[in-house]
Amino acid sequence: MSGPLVIAVDGPAASGKGTIARALARHYGLPHLDTGLLYRAVGIGVLRAGGDPSQAADALRACDFSEGVMADPGLKSEAAGRAASIVSAHPAVRAALLARQRAFAAQPGGAVLDGRDIGTVIAPAATAKLFVTAASDVRARRRFEELARLGLHVTEDHVLADILARDERDSGRAAAPLVRAEDAVLLDTSAMGVDAAVKAAIAIVEARR
Ligand code: DC
Repeated sequence: MSGPLVIAVDGPAASGKGTIARALARHYGLPHLDTGLLYRAVGIGVLRAGGDPSQAADALRACDFSEGVMADPGLKSEAAGRAASIVSAHPAVRAALLARQRAFAAQPGGAVLDGRDIGTVIAPAATAKLFVTAASDVRARRRFEELARLGLHVTEDHVLADILARDERDSGRAAAPLVRAEDAVLLDTSAMGVDAAVKAAIAIVEARR
């Protein structure tokens, strides 16, 4: 197939989708957008303004953030992830973040985006779509290790409870819920190391080109 290579990577929290998306971007020399960071920027903006993430008006006010926020290390915190998961259920927030994601996906040279609704809403015509998943206890362990590396103090049980709550919110919401696009290829990374998962992802993309 000709035309720009657009790769959509979706999946639940801590499934490995971010690592895979970054590796695909490196492999193909494409720009990469972690769309979760946009929702995290909104979530943390609400918290810092003393607002309530479940209130659409508070969340919408926080959608007008500057690009510099995207590099804030606070975006990686559990609190930001939880707030992101709550603000992302508001249709007005999703609408406010839509244009910049679509523009990123439409770059003439192609792009890699990861999130929850890339293959279904943001880039339904993507060249290749991956739905990355892993068992919840495996995802909890990975996220626990990642947070520990960042020096953030949490217990593994707490991380698992948080992941299960996020799965429920992200999959159960009415607006662009986390679902596998019909034409997305499932990649279960439960029993895979990073190298094996990246190799499998590249094979999936190659088969679609
Ligand atoms: O990928 P992540 O864990 O950084 O995402 C944080 C939250 O943002 C996630 O729980 C749901 C929301 N999100 C979304 O609704 N749609 C996306 N495309 C990306 C993230």
